[in-house]
Amino acid sequence: MISVSFLASNNIPDTLTKLNNTDANFIHVDVMDGKYVDNKSLPFKEMRHIYKFTDKRLDVHLMVESPSIYISDYASLNTEYISIHLDTIEDTLSNLKLIKSYGIKAGIVLNPNDKVESLIPYLPYIDLILVMGVIPGKGGQKFIDKTINKLKELKVLKKEYKDFKFKVSVDGGVNDVVSKKIYNLVDIIVSGSYITSSEDYQKQINSLRFFS
Ligand code: DX5
Ligand code: ZN
Repeated sequence: MISVSFLASNNIPDTLTKLNNTDANFIHVDVMDGKYVDNKSLPFKEMRHIYKFTDKRLDVHLMVESPSIYISDYASLNTEYISIHLDTIEDTLSNLKLIKSYGIKAGIVLNPNDKVESLIPYLPYIDLILVMGVIPGKGGQKFIDKTINKLKELKVLKKEYKDFKFKVSVDGGVNDVVSKKIYNLVDIIVSGSYITSSEDYQKQINSLRFFS
């Protein structure tokens, strides 16, 4: 599946409207607080109107140090997943439970330096593992190749813990060349600038789809 990030877009309503005419599966929403990462996204009270431009379900990525306030906001939208980082200043398990309390699927994000072992205690509570292919904070960066080793480790983990039904997603720096290397290791590919900086969104999405 393909989840499209509009982080690099300079006209979000236009980008979301154009994405409605593609077969993208989700819209990936990057939320930044200017503390967990240097950049800051627009406040929710401005952004909530912008989501009216999309019919697609949202895949929300919280790059914030205090997820709990954002969870209730984003739970009020057409949201499939809300994912949080491991090293926030709040309790990770409580926040995963908070996400689930809204009937929304919960995800953990692994930064390039986070080890796969660190998420094992959370496996019973999560539906998604979002693996960063770049240092979080901005779009248009180059994919870090050693992310592929982490995706291979996760594939092994998935076999070991087959009672837990989590999906694996990769986020950051994904283009057609990267997708070809990783498509058999992940369930969802997040891609931003590769799609939104192009004239033909569907063509770019097709070029990432080595899987359904
Ligand atoms: C990085 C974000 C990603 C990113 C994806 O901080 O979490 O979602 O915007 O965009 P590209 O594909 O341009 O790296
Ligand atoms: Zn993201």
